[in-house]
Amino acid sequence: MSGMRIMVTGGAGFIGSAYVRHALADPEGARICVYDLLTYAGHRENLTDLPAERMDLVVGDVADAQALRAACDTFAPDAIVHFAAETHVDRSLSDPQVFVRTNVQGTQAVLDVASERGIRLVLVSTDEVYGDRAGREAATPGTALDPSNVYAATKAAGDMLAIVAHRQRGQDVVITRCTNNYGPRQTPEKLIPLMILRAAADEELPVYGDGQQQRDWLHANDHADGVHRALRAGTAGRVYHFAGGMARTNLSVIHALLAELGETNARIRHVADRPAHDLLYALDCTASVAELGWAPRTSFASGLAETVAWYRANTAWCRAVAGPELNAFLEANYGGRAEHR
Ligand code: NAD
Ligand code: TYD
Repeated sequence: MSGMRIMVTGGAGFIGSAYVRHALADPEGARICVYDLLTYAGHRENLTDLPAERMDLVVGDVADAQALRAACDTFAPDAIVHFAAETHVDRSLSDPQVFVRTNVQGTQAVLDVASERGIRLVLVSTDEVYGDRAGREAATPGTALDPSNVYAATKAAGDMLAIVAHRQRGQDVVITRCTNNYGPRQTPEKLIPLMILRAAADEELPVYGDGQQQRDWLHANDHADGVHRALRAGTAGRVYHFAGGMARTNLSVIHALLAELGETNARIRHVADRPAHDLLYALDCTASVAELGWAPRTSFASGLAETVAWYRANTAWCRAVAGPELNAFLEANYGGRAEHR
């Protein structure tokens, strides 16, 4: 594995950039090519502090197989780790087509290019493919997929295409599924960064429904560690789970981050619930622990404190990522703009 050359799709996004950092720190060395369309969720700023001599950025669409092929011809990767996706459930309600294009068509293109080159592909997926686990057991890798929204359905479609590629043509593909991530550099449209920035700006905090829905939070660095272990030691055709192991209600997460901010007067406002809002996600990680030796290392309390501190210290990043598309989305949904913070 020494000096492994890894193509990272979506490497300018939140978790992809955490993974690039993790892979570059691998003592065996790695050379990275980030292939990323730099949508509203992809930010050059997420990569600027990394060593340029060990990392390239190619701006391209995963659904454009020719462009991806050309990037692979130039870089000659030993493996592809596929993070690129449309990821926000709320956006998938109003714009499903782009989710189908990126998450389904794009995943098939990545599968095809990896297959042509005979290299390993790690497909990064989500707990949301199993749907709501409230009143049901934690999902194992064999649990039937049962998505509740367009984001989850398109991720499930990508996963199934990967399973079929392994079955039909023996492709070397490993799938990972993870619970909700948090940490630095998450675009402020997702719960934790949105609430940190809105609370800091004295704006109302929009809680969907009663706020009793539960998510199992995992720090992005622990997720990156799991994905790297799956790349190095995962068995082709298998699915590996990564979870923090402790679900919390959305309201308790908001109270914890307000305590961290020292905010006592924050205005929590209960707003209309998401349609088909999943109440709980839960993953059984037995195989990842046994086969990959994986375990989460960051406690939620310390990870949240670090994340809050990061957003407070990095206001320039918050301004830089607040492009017109993100601002329009925030304005339409919450009546606030990211760049004001
Ligand atoms: P993100 O939205 O922060 O980043 C997505 C990245 O993909 C961005 O850099 C964006 O520019 C890029 N991208 C989007 N469309 C593209 C396209 N057509 N071609 C090339 N690049 C494109 O997402 P994230 O939160 O970092 O999630 C990364 C992966 O992890 C996704 O596959 C997601 O499904 C999965 N995942 C996320 C979570 C979570 O809590 N965020 C949990 C489990 C799994
Ligand atoms: P989110 O960060 O969008 O991740 P996901 O939908 O993938 O779980 O949302 C996390 C939880 O927080 C989810 O139950 C929806 C809820 N939520 C709110 O209550 N208010 C908000 O403004 C947002 C963005 C999310």
